[in-house]
Amino acid sequence: MHMPRLEKIWIAIGIATMAAFFVTLITLAVASDLNPPSTEGMTIDPTRVMQTPPFDKPGLHQIGPHLYEAYYVGQIFQWSPRELKVPAGSTVRFFVTSTDVVHGFTIPTADVNAEVMPGWISEVDHTFNSPGTYLVLCNQYCGAGHANMFSRVEVTR
Ligand code: CUA
Repeated sequence: MHMPRLEKIWIAIGIATMAAFFVTLITLAVASDLNPPSTEGMTIDPTRVMQTPPFDKPGLHQIGPHLYEAYYVGQIFQWSPRELKVPAGSTVRFFVTSTDVVHGFTIPTADVNAEVMPGWISEVDHTFNSPGTYLVLCNQYCGAGHANMFSRVEVTR
């Protein structure tokens, strides 16, 4: 097959650019130790999430006057707990893990977003100042029931 010289040059430039991006991405990810958001780099055996406290009882724990910890388990196709309630002004520290595939823990109206991977405990904080219902969604396509994967945070007055 005959290919004009200029076309070959542009194909080479295209491939070289992609290779440069790829090398840059991998180098940065390894050099800066990129992982899901978590302050302590906490890991968990993904096959034993349901037997590992506190994930064996997903839900809310009050640890201070306006401070809560919420333990969530993601699995196809639901978040546990299905609902939790906190008073307005509460800071909730979410700890989230998965028993199966990659999920995305997100509360779009509260600026909460964390990649959830099996084997890893992701951590993200939020202070809920306005009362209302906050939908917790999954933003990583995880299978046929992905769109049904939701939960609620009720913020009361
Ligand atoms: Cu879980 Cu999409």
